[in-house]
Amino acid sequence: MRIGVVGTGAMGTFHVQTLARWVPGAEVTAVFDADLERARQVAGEVRALTLGSAEELVEHRHVDAVVVAAPDPLHEELALACLAAGRPALLEKPLATTMDGARRVVDAEVASGRRLLQLGFMRRYDAAFLQLREAVLSGAVGEVRAAHCVHRNAAAHPSATSAGVLVNSMIHEFDSVPWLLDDPVHAVTVHAPRVPDGALQDVQVAVLETQAGRVVTVEVSVNARYGYDVRTEVVGTEGTVSLTPPYGVAFRRDRMDGVAVGDDFVARFADAYRVELHSWVESVRGGAPTGPSAWDGYLANQVAFAAVDSLGGAGRVEVGRGERPEIYAGS
Ligand SMILES: NC(=O)c1ccc[n+]([C@@H]2O[C@H](COP(=O)([O-])OP(=O)(O)OC[C@H]3O[C@@H](n4cnc5c(N)ncnc54)[C@H](O)[C@@H]3O)[C@@H](O)[C@H]2O)c1
Repeated sequence: MRIGVVGTGAMGTFHVQTLARWVPGAEVTAVFDADLERARQVAGEVRALTLGSAEELVEHRHVDAVVVAAPDPLHEELALACLAAGRPALLEKPLATTMDGARRVVDAEVASGRRLLQLGFMRRYDAAFLQLREAVLSGAVGEVRAAHCVHRNAAAHPSATSAGVLVNSMIHEFDSVPWLLDDPVHAVTVHAPRVPDGALQDVQVAVLETQAGRVVTVEVSVNARYGYDVRTEVVGTEGTVSLTPPYGVAFRRDRMDGVAVGDDFVARFADAYRVELHSWVESVRGGAPTGPSAWDGYLANQVAFAAVDSLGGAGRVEVGRGERPEIYAGS
């Protein structure tokens, strides 16, 4: 499968390298980034073409499928371009930066009559998250009553905003919590510390109520400084189950006893990205993507925009539920 990659920043570069080194049957043939120098450098590593625009890449005769790793505000238009060209695409999250935009993408995919898009919710491919889900759904901790999630990024992206903490970062929990518990989010209330006017509202804590009546807390920070840290604990009537940090080695030095905490999401989820891309390529070669769909992206966006309203002063906000279009049956 010949793949074109739009956006060769931190995420796009890692996807290019992963596709080239780890995914049999995949070849990166074209790259575009607004920073042409950066695009050239990344393309050079895998001997791909550097193209002059995203539109050119999507329609290029040497491109069978597209990876979109450009900034969030471009996801909607790039998804629509891929759908118009009939190109399967792996879109980084979020699906779109507005609810109307998310709806436009879903409507366009439904109108095309088949699934072409997959969302970059890579936690669904992470071995630890998969084991956690298996434990929860098999009843290993009894009836699930609550869960607690922590998601701390080491340093804020220059584009970070208070709403973005929810739409860009907490979006991972808005997808992973319903997936882990097999239970959609029914309502959300966001709490944020008081900060000086205009300052980034970081850290934020959301309380999610699920359709089955579970309560889930989610703490997200985009500027935790000490490192990148993702934790989840699920509390049931018979016990709890939680992710164990992916520790490799422990140090005792400089009067400290402990393990290093990386600052890099790529390192923490490197294997998940590999499995994600591998499975995406396999499924697209087999006819259609089978991973997280545009509908999953739409549902996560619904929670995210309810959360944005809550952050803006609306208190507890119930999450609307649309009817799942037929093409997403089983998604
Ligand atoms: N799934 C995940 O775990 C995960 C992790 C990080 C980022 N992301 C997502 O991946 C995307 C990229 O994030 P990043 O961390 O790599 O950001 P980044 O800032 O490192 O990279 C963004 C790249 O997009 C390029 N760009 C800007 N405008 C463009 C345009 N008009 N067309 C093409 N390229 C353009 C920039 O030059 C830059 O190279 C975002 O949507 C982000 O939400 C996902």
